[in-house]
Amino acid sequence: MTHALQAVRGMNDILPDTAEIWEQFEDLVRDWLRSYGYRPIRMPLVEPTPLFKRAIGEVTDIVEKEMYSFEDALNGEHLTLRPEGTASCVRAVIQHSLLHGAPQRLYYHGPMFRHERPQKGRYRQFHQIGVESLGFDGPDIDAEHILMCTRLWDDLGLTDIRLELNSLGSSEERAAHRCALVAYLDAHRDQLDEDGRRRLHTNPLRVLDTKNPLLQPIMEAAPRLSDYLGDESWAHFEGVQQILKDAGIPYRINHRLVRGLDYYNRTVFEWVTDRLGAQGTVCAGGRYDGLIAQLGGKPAPAAGFAMGVERLLALWQESGGEAVRPAPDVYLVNAGIEAGRLAFRAAEALRSHGFSVLQHCGGGSFKSQMKRADGSGAPFAVIIGDDEAAVGEVSIKPLRGGGEQRRVAVDALAETLAELLYLTEEREA
Ligand code: HAM
Repeated sequence: MTHALQAVRGMNDILPDTAEIWEQFEDLVRDWLRSYGYRPIRMPLVEPTPLFKRAIGEVTDIVEKEMYSFEDALNGEHLTLRPEGTASCVRAVIQHSLLHGAPQRLYYHGPMFRHERPQKGRYRQFHQIGVESLGFDGPDIDAEHILMCTRLWDDLGLTDIRLELNSLGSSEERAAHRCALVAYLDAHRDQLDEDGRRRLHTNPLRVLDTKNPLLQPIMEAAPRLSDYLGDESWAHFEGVQQILKDAGIPYRINHRLVRGLDYYNRTVFEWVTDRLGAQGTVCAGGRYDGLIAQLGGKPAPAAGFAMGVERLLALWQESGGEAVRPAPDVYLVNAGIEAGRLAFRAAEALRSHGFSVLQHCGGGSFKSQMKRADGSGAPFAVIIGDDEAAVGEVSIKPLRGGGEQRRVAVDALAETLAELLYLTEEREA
């Protein structure tokens, strides 16, 4: 027997039961984004590799070891499957001069690729909904991002999700802090693990982010970036916090929140839950004022965030969220050659009136077709046999809550069904 092929490890099929939940979630998210005035943008899944190296940073986990990079066999170009959306979005905004004139509020959604070790909540192909606001420099847009997240969590009925906030200051402030930090870490060099020693000079901020429990006391006592923030950075950070306080949004300042991508400055935040095990960050982002210029655009400030769809939906299910299984209005049963022909006419006429119709295909007895009709969740079966077809009529049979079967002319089907559906909804309401 031929060996059946499997999907690539860490890359999941999303099967119909789950994909229906995803679609409901995506509909809700689209409405939510529109209600804040965000507009869609769609970027390619593949980009030139240097884009991510420049944007995310050479000494980051993503660029050092998680990118799916390859050489195009036809022209030798160095390409990468996008590990995130911000770099691509900024590239597109620069390439198409979208920032000439007004600032932009944009969003995208779709798959991202990182070669991480797969586990619950961590995949090699995962999905993000990303939001980027370009050309805004005040704390108001940072706060808007956080407020909009809060509203989405409320709409989804999510509980146990908390906000962690930090300010990374400006690049000069980070440079001063970095000097102090390197000196401090160097003084504790012997106690660091291998990763820490390797990154000490290349990316000392990430050394602070270590998960190694033995190193926690050293990291706790390390120089804090907050001690190096200047007046402007403080004013910005306090501006964000003031709006959050006005809106009654609780948060915790986490001085060690540094994020895994190098483009951030000033405000950074993460939404975290304890209900998903180790992979508890469901949404994260911050300000990246230098990135547009760094990628060759005219300097402009910007901020954004992205949520992990798999993690968010897992949390939604943990919090008792249930999808409404979409059912057709009608299951159309038909047996016989003439009946089969009339079935197409009846089904298309119903769809022209806005009904959703699942037309039975493939034949079979009335009995087996009625079983399918019951299983479909449709409130009505429309039944056509050859005797009905001979006189241009169909039967309507309620499948839920009793009620009489009745026979109507095919031309009166849509109208009769509209009345019956209305009555059913009235009764259920
Ligand atoms: P990120 O923190 O790398 O940020 O990813 C954002 C979110 O994507 C994470 O909080 C997590 O929920 C989800 N995520 C990341 N990696 C995985 C994975 N391997 N499996 C499942 N979910 C994952 C960014 O990507 C930035 N581009 C966010 C941003 C937008 N900053 C400014 N604008």
